[in-house]
Amino acid sequence: MTMTLAHRPVLLEETLAALRPGPGKVIVDATFGGGGHTEALLAAGARVIALDKDPEAIARGRARFAKEPRLTLVEADFRELGRVLEELGVAEVDGVLADLGVSSYHLDDPKRGFSYRLEGPLDMRMGSEGPSAAEVVNTLPERELARILREFGEEPAAARIARAIVRARPLSTTTELAEVVRRAVGYRRAGHPARKTFQALRIYVNDELGALRALLGESAHRIRSGGRLAVISFHSLEDREVKRFFRESSEFEPLFKKPVVPRPEEVAENPRARSAKLRVGVRR
Ligand SMILES: C[S@@+](CC[C@H](N)C(=O)[O-])C[C@H]1O[C@@H](n2cnc3c(N)ncnc32)[C@H](O)[C@@H]1O
Repeated sequence: MTMTLAHRPVLLEETLAALRPGPGKVIVDATFGGGGHTEALLAAGARVIALDKDPEAIARGRARFAKEPRLTLVEADFRELGRVLEELGVAEVDGVLADLGVSSYHLDDPKRGFSYRLEGPLDMRMGSEGPSAAEVVNTLPERELARILREFGEEPAAARIARAIVRARPLSTTTELAEVVRRAVGYRRAGHPARKTFQALRIYVNDELGALRALLGESAHRIRSGGRLAVISFHSLEDREVKRFFRESSEFEPLFKKPVVPRPEEVAENPRARSAKLRVGVRR
């Protein structure tokens, strides 16, 4: 079968080798996104239960896979994996995949507010609930903003940027915020000066680390013995969380000691793969 993928899924072969999908297997794709990994899992013969909290991703998926009886698409936060499976009457699954973070649909769509390069409202919500990035930057105290930038962006100029944001409030667009950060940082960096600030706000707005922790815990209850949990992360805060979980959990045996990273050819083809790390645990 030929695959027509608009965006090539990250670490695809490596993920398939880890999850071993096939006829009779049930795999959860906790982060459906553009459906790239799901498409390959279906092509390998598995039944797929795919979640995404973004209503737009689910609507696109429903249109694209309308004729696929082995796919169940659910608009839900993956922290609710347990509830979703209960409602579907599925007691155990053979594998769970999480390809974390935002999709290229999010980054390329200015109205979602994820990109510091494209002008749009300061939104950054992957789902339809919770406070937007605008509410965060315009209402939180300076100290709290600085903490968020330091903790979730590992931003060395956190205090300076937080002060500049508070002085420039109210901010309403991505490019306004990017410009405030650029002026506050005041020196040239490798990459865009607002990259870490945007990463930090996105992680905070979507409580990404809280959701990841909840997913790891839920997976432990839902994967059958011998089944696999595969997580692709894109920054050190996420990877640290996954690494610690596999090390401390008595329920999983890590499949490899070191995380799997993309081959140089993949990074050359797809720059988003550059920071990807795959860790896999086998359920005891
Ligand atoms: C990197 S993309 C996945 C790309 C996908 N593997 C593919 O091949 O097209 C991550 C997706 O996960 C979704 N997502 C992130 N956090 C989530 C959460 N807590 N619950 C459900 N979906 C989430 C995002 O909306 C996004 O669509």
